[in-house]
Amino acid sequence: MMDSKVLEYSDQIKKLGIENTILEHPTSKNIDEVVSSLALTRSDSAATLIMKADDEFVAIIRCDDCKLDNKKVKKNLGIENLRIATAEEFTKLTGLQPGAAIYFNPSIKKTLIDKKVLEKEYIVGGSGSFSYSIKHKTKDLIKIPGSQIVNVAEKALIMTETKYSGKKRVLSGIRATGRLHLGNYLGAVKGMLELQNNPEYETLYMVADVHTITTPFTIEELRKNRREVIIDYLAAGLDPEKSVIFQQSEVAQHIELAFYFSSVATIARMQHLPTFKEKVKLHPGHSTMALLNYPILMASDILIYKASLVPVGIDQEPHLEVAREIARKMNQFYGTDFPEPKRFATKGEYIPSLKGEGKMGKSVEGSYINLTDSLDEIQKKIRSVPTATKAGGEMTPGVKTLFTFANLYLSSEVEKYKKEFNNGTLQFVTVKDEISEAIYKELQPFQERRKKIEADQSYLNKVIKEGAEKARAIASQTVKEVREKMGLL
Ligand code: TRP
Repeated sequence: MMDSKVLEYSDQIKKLGIENTILEHPTSKNIDEVVSSLALTRSDSAATLIMKADDEFVAIIRCDDCKLDNKKVKKNLGIENLRIATAEEFTKLTGLQPGAAIYFNPSIKKTLIDKKVLEKEYIVGGSGSFSYSIKHKTKDLIKIPGSQIVNVAEKALIMTETKYSGKKRVLSGIRATGRLHLGNYLGAVKGMLELQNNPEYETLYMVADVHTITTPFTIEELRKNRREVIIDYLAAGLDPEKSVIFQQSEVAQHIELAFYFSSVATIARMQHLPTFKEKVKLHPGHSTMALLNYPILMASDILIYKASLVPVGIDQEPHLEVAREIARKMNQFYGTDFPEPKRFATKGEYIPSLKGEGKMGKSVEGSYINLTDSLDEIQKKIRSVPTATKAGGEMTPGVKTLFTFANLYLSSEVEKYKKEFNNGTLQFVTVKDEISEAIYKELQPFQERRKKIEADQSYLNKVIKEGAEKARAIASQTVKEVREKMGLL
């Protein structure tokens, strides 16, 4: 049943001469969900921010795809201090729940309307209820008493329109199974950093927390680890000013799109993937539908942003092949315009396990170096790489592992060491300790930054919240397009 307050508000503004229509939608406080369920985008909706400007309260109406420029507001109002009203102040002034602001509040004497709001003929805004929105003609908004049109907002960094910047999109993610280790850093994060710092790309990096539930997990660990990965990202130099950094589960559209994608992927194809077989072997009895769907969700992660480049380790190539197949089929059957994403390889795309067998990974204790390890710990681990030599001078897997690290960290000396190995004079301990020191030297600045970030949880919360908002803006647009093309909208 409709809240009588919504009807009252609608009548109240009608009396001011603001014609309006009430739109119903699933109850949500999330703007992206609301606009996508109304088959609109963020640029079709506007929100009212209630702010404390020196000692009075003002309302500011701005489009939802814009960010308020506080400096411009201050200049416009000729004031010094500006902040968002607290939840208590908000409720006291408007009688509404925080987040439910409406355009017209009789208790507020001044309303600034950003001029970008007027670019559309109609705009959708709040109704005071999370289940309804109200559509108005934008030119009527000026009838709000005490309102004026100003220029105080900027289009946000990432627009809802996927073709906005013309830049190539990049997406990558790491599962939330623990803190990052050296294999993740060299295989994926270094590539992420390189692309982030290249102005030709628009980069989105997530923690794949939904993928974490495809294998056995504990709730507490998952909750902790998805945050740890974000801390690791930031400490490694991923920058929320340059990249969209977010948690996969916060953008539910990934899961929705994955289901649509699953209609063009066959069970047989998924069952035969080497990654699926390995995981089933590792966790017998946990051969779940989620695990089978893993590559489809990953395809959705990438394609929902129409990303064409994916910095990940070489072991992810079979998953990228699936993503390309899905893109092709979707484009063929439904006329979508998904790119066929390619892998972006780094020099350290395959980091072997310290055990001398397989790749460095969280699942095998003693196989990996943590990015937070001390020099002592690194030294101990590297020294434990099995380097006993075989007769005939052939390289054992352990020796090969050591040379992989020597190639990455001691590149100017590696030829010399190879010669020494061949004539049997190589001092393994010396090489091992040199590698350990080089690794530690690279990790030290990371470790210092990590401590600082860990100590500032409110900064972290802000990064996570804003990242999800930016990601959702793009993702909901793609889902809307796909639904339209598939006959679901
Ligand atoms: N499968 C990736 C891994 O295990 C993690 C991942 C999930 C991912 N979604 C992604 C990587 C999208 C790149 C893009 O490393």
